[in-house]
Parts: sequence; C-alpha cells; structure tokens
Amino acid sequence: MDIDVLRQAPLFSALDDDSIESLVPSLAETRLRRGEVLFHEGDSGDKLYVVLEGKVKLGRTSADGRENLLAILGPGQMFGELSLFDPGPRSATVTAVTESTFASLSHEDLQLWIEGRPVVARGLLSQLAARLRKANDVVADLVFSDVPGRVAKALIDLADRFGRTADDGVHVHHDLTQEELAQLVGASRETVNKALADFTSRGWLRLEPRSVVIMDIERLSRRAR
Ligand code: CMP
Repeated sequence: MDIDVLRQAPLFSALDDDSIESLVPSLAETRLRRGEVLFHEGDSGDKLYVVLEGKVKLGRTSADGRENLLAILGPGQMFGELSLFDPGPRSATVTAVTESTFASLSHEDLQLWIEGRPVVARGLLSQLAARLRKANDVVADLVFSDVPGRVAKALIDLADRFGRTADDGVHVHHDLTQEELAQLVGASRETVNKALADFTSRGWLRLEPRSVVIMDIERLSRRAR
C-alpha cells in the first residue's frame, strides 16, 4: 500500500508515521477498472475509502433515470463516511472514471481508531465542513449562475486538482466524457458543448479527448465568478 498517498490525504496528514503505520494492518486495498462500480446509491455500507490512484465519480440517479454527478474525487480524497456518521444507505453510486485503487477501512475499525486520536476526528470534521461549504456553493451556483459560468467553475476546480502546467497552458486530464461534464454541472450536453465551443473560440481553452488545455486561466476564472 502506498503510505505516501495516505500521508498526503487531508484525513491523515496531521498524523505521525507511527500512527499511520498502526493503521495499515486494518486497511485493505481495492482495485477497479474504468467503468466499474464500487457501490450503488441505496446499498448498505460499512467501509470508508481513500483514493490512492485514479479518479472516481460520485453520482445519483433521478426517478426517471437522469444522472447527476456530486463530485469527482482523486488521490488523497475520502468517501463512504456518511453512512457511518449518519447511519443509513449509501448516498451516492461510486464508479471508477479511470483504473483506480483505494484503501478501505471498516467503519468499526475507523471508530476504534478515532477513539483517543482527536487529530483524526478533527481531520474528518474539517473534510465534512469543506464538503458542506462546497455543496452550498454548488446549490448557489445552480440558482445564481448560468451554465457557462458553472462549466468554467468546474474546469477551474478540475484544473486545481488534476492540472499540470506546461508552456502552452494548464493541461487538465479530467478523463470525463462531455456527457459526464454535463452531469457534473447539472445541464444538458448540448448547452455544455455550446459553452465549451464559445470558450474555445475566445482562445481560453483547447478541447482534447477527455481532457482540456486551459490557455487563459485568468479569463476562465473571471467567467467562473
Ligand atoms: P456514503 O453515503 O457512505 O457513500 C457515498 C459517499 O459519497 C458518501 O458517504 C460521501 O462520502 C460521498 N459524498 C456524498 N455527497 C458528496 C458530495 N456532495 N461531495 C463529495 N462527496 C460526497
């Protein structure tokens, strides 16, 4: 198991090496191929996961079959804790967007491990608080922002987490189809395509399969506000 990625995970970053090492025997490694589902919304669940490698999408499906993506998570990010702290079924379906590996920890072991380690409890609380803050932003954007603004914001967020700066701009290998990008911003694929075509014609970005090169991050950021 890649201890270095665990060390970078906000949940574990405040821990010393001994504490992390003491956790390792309780961790199991899970691997998924692109498109494989780890669990479905509504399933019962008893594990927390940390992404070690790759990317996952967290999605929900409406009664009439439409899909909405809550988040794309990458290395160091955790999920699967809600069903522990607020006992109930899984609140989202988790699907691998790329080949991915995860460290999993049973809710029971997590609870035992938190006892006497306030720094872990604080790490969990701060992640939950950050997620609530972000969820509030998403709701506000759905009400106050237009689709191009939401697309710009989603691209900036993906760039912050998965971008690599090169001479010609920030390369963001997000691994999402345009349909998935549309599900992430809560709009139709056609409207999202139009926004992307507009940004392209302005010279702010260049589209590549499952990735984008942002050439003018300043203008795109301004459009996201
Ligand atoms: P759980 O309900 O056990 O399973 C699905 C997980 O998705 C959930 O725990 C959270 O860890 C995660 N999750 C749910 N909503 C969001 C969100 N808005 N942003 C990021 N992660 C989320």
